[in-house]
Amino acid sequence: ESRRASRTATPIHGQRSRHLWVTGQYVNPEWKAKADAEPGGSRVSNNPTAVWLDRIAAINGTPNSSSNGAFGVRDHLDEALRQGAGYIQFVIYNLPGRDCSALASNGELGPDELPRYKSEYIDPIAAIQSDSKYRNIRIINVVEIDSLPNLVTNTSGQAGGTVMCDTVKANGAYVNGVGYALAKLGAIGNVYNYIDAGHHGWLGWDSNFGPTADILKTAAVASGSTVNNVHGFITNTANYSALVEPYFKVTDNVNGQTVRQSKWVDWNYYVDELSFAQAFRTKLISVGFNSNIGMLIDTSRNGWGGANRPTGPGATTSVDTYVNGGRIDRRAHAGNWCNQAGAGLGERPRANPATGIDAYVWVKPPGESDGSSSEIPNNEGKGFDRMCDPTYGGNARNGNNPTGALPNAPISGAWFSAQFRELMQNAYPAL
Ligand code: BGC
Repeated sequence: ESRRASRTATPIHGQRSRHLWVTGQYVNPEWKAKADAEPGGSRVSNNPTAVWLDRIAAINGTPNSSSNGAFGVRDHLDEALRQGAGYIQFVIYNLPGRDCSALASNGELGPDELPRYKSEYIDPIAAIQSDSKYRNIRIINVVEIDSLPNLVTNTSGQAGGTVMCDTVKANGAYVNGVGYALAKLGAIGNVYNYIDAGHHGWLGWDSNFGPTADILKTAAVASGSTVNNVHGFITNTANYSALVEPYFKVTDNVNGQTVRQSKWVDWNYYVDELSFAQAFRTKLISVGFNSNIGMLIDTSRNGWGGANRPTGPGATTSVDTYVNGGRIDRRAHAGNWCNQAGAGLGERPRANPATGIDAYVWVKPPGESDGSSSEIPNNEGKGFDRMCDPTYGGNARNGNNPTGALPNAPISGAWFSAQFRELMQNAYPAL
């Protein structure tokens, strides 16, 4: 009943409920059907996953696409009504020059197509989400994965900097696009925007941490938006960073050396996602975001359970034996991001799990690929990124380590059965 009462409240963010995550989840029936078709998939298929609006055609549904499905935004919202769901999660993911530092999720809009982003993408989504028919559903929009941090870490002069990131930084496509999305969608009383905030293995160094907070603030007040359009932030989206490393802390020393100087930590100030998300929240408030913002952490694939999970700290021979023996994140390098072998489902989605954290969520739907392991022609704008190729020896951004990617992966967003099965097998908590 309190849900109904809040509908009539003035749409000012400070008045929006912090309790939306306990109002009853929406289960995407299209994802559920794919999960149910896998052996043992019904053990997890009733979890809420986000609906990615990864191209203009996804607004009305893309029946012929390899990823996503026939359901458009309206179909999902109608189904949410039918389910009696209290909340539904969408991902706004179609910026001009999308995924500027990588190739696997480049999108349909070129870097100069901000006008199309506004009129053909954001406006139609806003028109549907503002339909009064849906006013009793809390609509969560996760805004533009992997966008703004790229302007801090992947522009010219930096290891791995790209021309595309330079272009979208110089022409304001990301900052103004995100600002426009926040303003337009945030004007709807039952919409809750969470902006993407990378992950600890990307932004945990102070050279990236503060500058990213600043650019998030710049975007939040661009294109007529204000910080009141921001309900919170999400970390680790579609990534594999461990929620908590139980067997070492960033403050640990071995033989008088800080673990920060181990090869794995590499002077980062954070060794796991929970500590990063909580600290970044504090930083975001200090640069001008509202003090009641909340964080989400994508735990869809950061479980790292299974037979190879360490059961105690590593040997105290050196910082490296200590960290490498004890870390549950088994990647070759924290910069590896594509279809990681050995990963497992993480915490099941749940509300208010820790201080400052609104929820653990499954934004990347488990079983959907991060990118193809070899070139696959497609009409979705998706390229071949060698970080998805298990035979590639890496680049500057992953310390020239092996990619750790699974073989035989389809293009990003397409169903990857072998990965889904492995995620279930290595789930932590176990299924
Ligand atoms: C892809 C999208 C897909 C999303 C969720 C992204 O990497 O580019 O097409 O919808 O992942 O699987």
